[in-house]
Amino acid sequence: MPVPMLDLVAQNVVVKQKVVDGLSGLIDRCSFVLGENVKGLETELADYSGAKYAVGMSSGTDALLVALMALNISHGDEVILPSFTFFATGGVVARMGAKPVFVDIDPVTFNAAPKSIEAAITPRTKAIMPVHLFGQLADMPKIMEIANSKGIPVIEDACQSLGARGWGKSAGQFGQLTGCSFYPTKNLGAFGDAGATLVRDDEALAQKTRRLRVHGMEPVYVHHEVGMNGRLDEFQALVLRAKLPFLEGWHEGRRKNARWYHQRLQSISRDDLQLPLEVVPDGRHIYNQFTVRVKRGRRDEFQAHLKARGIGNSVFYPISLHQQPCFEYLGYKKGSLPETELASEEVLSLPVYPEMTEAQLEEAARAILDFFAGDSRLQNL
Ligand SMILES: Cc1ncc(COP(=O)(O)O)c(C=O)c1O
Repeated sequence: MPVPMLDLVAQNVVVKQKVVDGLSGLIDRCSFVLGENVKGLETELADYSGAKYAVGMSSGTDALLVALMALNISHGDEVILPSFTFFATGGVVARMGAKPVFVDIDPVTFNAAPKSIEAAITPRTKAIMPVHLFGQLADMPKIMEIANSKGIPVIEDACQSLGARGWGKSAGQFGQLTGCSFYPTKNLGAFGDAGATLVRDDEALAQKTRRLRVHGMEPVYVHHEVGMNGRLDEFQALVLRAKLPFLEGWHEGRRKNARWYHQRLQSISRDDLQLPLEVVPDGRHIYNQFTVRVKRGRRDEFQAHLKARGIGNSVFYPISLHQQPCFEYLGYKKGSLPETELASEEVLSLPVYPEMTEAQLEEAARAILDFFAGDSRLQNL
């Protein structure tokens, strides 16, 4: 039985009729951009996240970009972020003409290590962008303490982690601004590109973010800043509103599958395979990805084995940002960020989506156990 990395068909079934009916209404009303669904979604996202304001955006990338614009980040400024993240986190910094300053990660959580952030601060540092990678919060109390002591604003990249919790708070309640993505593979996914920028509590910053989303325009044809077209479609907002009531259940389904992997794979030595650990006090990892570390240089072999057994898997991310060709000008060398580089060589994400059946979980676990028991090498001879 093949086990895909993600199967959205089962999830879509529960919202399909509502979405189809809603779309019909949108067509009849000719309401396509920034209408009542976007407004409604913004209220619901603020409630859900605990941030005071939410601004619907066209993607997670634009949600991060507009956050940098709202903070006036520009040429000559430095922004600190982990190198081990999706490209967009660094791309938006460079797009503003600022310098991305990449820092190393904690090898257990894959998130930026507060000590590395502190060491990277210079008089030119204008923002810190921690990423809550794979669904688990970065060490936000320490990061906020460092940032606040220097008066540096923080933008959380919660593109994979809306709903992640820790230290009595949720993603979006730590930094001044937070970027969220609703790309279809996220725990809350649209039917296309969509995102949102959360604003923790500053009304003026929220107003500016909303204005920047429409070319800095307020009122119509008066432009205060050079903004962007970052508007969210009504259709995507409608889909997200239909899905939002299910989100808590989906997070819990992923968590249940993660626990199941832990139980089923406990006989494998941690010297061979490291399963993801939850280390955040009072925390909730939402497992946008269930990411293991394959030790002893065997990731490629393990991937080939999983492929042969029909088990979906992905490497997030094989090349970290400081090693990307477009960032060569920054001068990082191999070995500059050792934990990041090792993670790039070892990580592998396994299927964890909430609609997985017990039989699929068992199929995946069996394939994994067979590999580490050595069966696979015998079978492949
Ligand atoms: C950590 C991270 N940051 C930023 C983004 C960008 O979001 P989007 O693809 O919606 O533009 C993503 C999405 O893949 C992400 O995972």
